[in-house]
Amino acid sequence: MTGPQRRGRRHPATRRPRLDGARLTAYDVLDGVSSRAAYANLLLPQLLRERPELQERDAAFATQLAYGTLRARGTLDAILTGLVSRPLAELDPRVLDLLRLGAYQLIDLRVPSHAAVDTTVGLTRGIVGTGASGLVNAVLRKVAAGGDRAQWLAALGAEGDDRLALATDHPRWIVDAWRDALGSEDELEAALLADDVAPEVHLVARRIGREALVEESGGSPGPWSPFAVRLPGGDPGRLASVRSGAAAVQDEGSQLAALLLARAPLEGPDAAWLDMCAGPGGKTGLLAAVRPDGVRITAADRAPHRAELVAKALAGEPDVEVLTADGTRPPWAPASFDRVLLDAPCTGLGALRRRPEVRWRRTADDVHPLVELQTALLDTALSSVRVGGVVAYVTCSPHTAETVGVVDAAAGREDVEVIPVAALFPDVPDLARGAYGQLWPHRHGTDAMFMALLRRTR
Ligand SMILES: C[S@@+](CC[C@H](N)C(=O)[O-])C[C@H]1O[C@@H](n2cnc3c(N)ncnc32)[C@H](O)[C@@H]1O
Repeated sequence: MTGPQRRGRRHPATRRPRLDGARLTAYDVLDGVSSRAAYANLLLPQLLRERPELQERDAAFATQLAYGTLRARGTLDAILTGLVSRPLAELDPRVLDLLRLGAYQLIDLRVPSHAAVDTTVGLTRGIVGTGASGLVNAVLRKVAAGGDRAQWLAALGAEGDDRLALATDHPRWIVDAWRDALGSEDELEAALLADDVAPEVHLVARRIGREALVEESGGSPGPWSPFAVRLPGGDPGRLASVRSGAAAVQDEGSQLAALLLARAPLEGPDAAWLDMCAGPGGKTGLLAAVRPDGVRITAADRAPHRAELVAKALAGEPDVEVLTADGTRPPWAPASFDRVLLDAPCTGLGALRRRPEVRWRRTADDVHPLVELQTALLDTALSSVRVGGVVAYVTCSPHTAETVGVVDAAAGREDVEVIPVAALFPDVPDLARGAYGQLWPHRHGTDAMFMALLRRTR
């Protein structure tokens, strides 16, 4: 399943177990991300499950190495570019990933240089071959000689926003997008720095009391959602209530997004709820737990495998129908629902802490097509709800075009009224983004979720 085997290289199976387990696992994650666009947050847990010989300490180190190296790619590549005679894109991708892995340990973790260099050279010999290990050795020695991240940033000579981008591990266009969304310079650096650290694990207590989940997990109650428990670390998959589905991993911001729909003031019937982009079912799960008696939930997703995940997550829940359906061409009749959640497909710029490679995979060109889709989906959401009914539009991106831009356009319609979000969460400070809501990692310790609430008036 790893790169060398997949690429059909001769790879003596007997050598891999002798390689450093944590570093090899981190490398395998980097290779999966580079060579087959794997998601680190899915691949790493899978590898850890397949390698039970790794102690808890090794698993934590592998996680730190893989996530840290993926996040820091821009800075690492800026450093390596000056030390390698060829363009980085012309290097064997395995060698480039190994250089990044070694350089990350040197500049950010301050692993002693002999340990960082020797272990990376050993990995290179085992994975790529002896020929490449000389290059890796020479380059990493130069990285070590240049000092830590601060010294390297000074040596690179970047200034202003370019320096901020390198210092906080974000591409420049995301720095610009976050400044625009924050609407000021004051918090920008704090926001980007908070987005550059590994987040706590957040759990949602769905069919278990929160106190019981706190006790079982050793975590602490989340500050904003009455269902949230935060864990400093560890593997939530070991918890019986997570394995049974009574609890689940879910960012506290995502919990508030689902609660927004449930808390919206509504007059008249309240029996039919729609979750229009439901896969893999995180928010549907919380909606099912908090709905009043008699509410029937329809959960749809365009991707069949995502709809299947919803069905799996909601198995055993009464009065939940799961559909594979394109929300822009819905199979349901207009005005069928009292409440509609549109958790729109987006760039995911607000959840970069949990998906470290996404910041380098996304580009500014991704935004416009998503805005077109979001606009079309919001149009259907508004026609799917009855007169007087509510639509919650949420994204795990704070990007202005995907959030305020999309909702302002719909709010300009004569049959739509905006319901202020912050009033529904009186305990959550600094939430208002105009009449909408915006969570931030540096303010709330959550993903940067955007939330808006609209009512169809006629
Ligand atoms: C942000 S994710 C939803 C996350 C989900 N609500 C949760 O909390 O687990 C967006 C989802 O929209 C789905 N999607 C994308 N385009 C769609 C469309 N045209 N109609 C319905 N679903 C769509 C994607 O497959 C993806 O599962």
